[in-house]
Amino acid sequence: MDAIKLWKDSYRTGSDEIDSQHQELFHQVEDFLTIAMTAGETANKQKCMETLDFLLSYTARHFELEETLQRERDYVGYAEHVKLHERFKNTVLAYQETVEREFSKEMLKRLAGTLMTWLTIHVCDCDRKIFTNEPISPQIHFEGVEDLIRTVTTRLLSDTYGIVFQNATASVYNGCVDGKVIVRSMIGNQGKTHVFLIGFSEEMARALYRGISGVEIGSMDAMNAVEKSALMELGDIIASHVLAYLISDEGENQFDWRGDLFLDQYRDTGVDIKNNMCLKFHTDHGALSVMYCAAG
Ligand SMILES: [Fe+2]
Ligand SMILES: [Fe+2]
Repeated sequence: MDAIKLWKDSYRTGSDEIDSQHQELFHQVEDFLTIAMTAGETANKQKCMETLDFLLSYTARHFELEETLQRERDYVGYAEHVKLHERFKNTVLAYQETVEREFSKEMLKRLAGTLMTWLTIHVCDCDRKIFTNEPISPQIHFEGVEDLIRTVTTRLLSDTYGIVFQNATASVYNGCVDGKVIVRSMIGNQGKTHVFLIGFSEEMARALYRGISGVEIGSMDAMNAVEKSALMELGDIIASHVLAYLISDEGENQFDWRGDLFLDQYRDTGVDIKNNMCLKFHTDHGALSVMYCAAG
């Protein structure tokens, strides 16, 4: 397997200090990925947990530095940025407890894939905005949810991975979503459940994974846990970008996230999803389908 190289020059933020911390952080994630990918069934739990602890304490210090710099500069997106750091810390903490409790190669890989996607997208989409003083979720004008999903998805994937969007066609969800890889994100908030189904064609899944990690997915039919969790995290991030405009995130707003990944076609006959909207995007790197509805 080719070695994963996470750093790209396009991730530069405008601050040498932050950039060198990002490079160091990515090196640590790469080391952790190597451990997760090569660990045998009898992997040394203590060594893995030490590497993970080191990576996470470095991340915490990095977040602190970034937040201090944002306060000093009166950064316009400070509150939203801090919330993203907090949510990430909580996610990783929950994962870490699970790894500690049920140590397995599979769980290490899942955590490594999640870390890789979240950190690279966060640097590219959020940290780069600190020094240009741009908000993370800029005010956008949209006419309805369909228009919102179209705007947010195209912007995120074109800014981050250079995907060129050609057109999008709307359809009605009838229990299936096309795609080689389908991510289902269910987000509970204030008695409502927001359901997203995000279907990536094989070409799209390959292009996005290459964009995140710099390497190719080995076999689409035998994806490993790093590849699966990296794409699942990406689906969750698309969902969270859309939700940022649908839910006011003031105060102690609790979110209950649940992500799942399916291969080939997602077919759900047991769920009655009303008032859904479904969009299929066509791009220079294959197709992407997004279904959204809110229930409850
Ligand atoms: Fe950062
Ligand atoms: Fe950050």
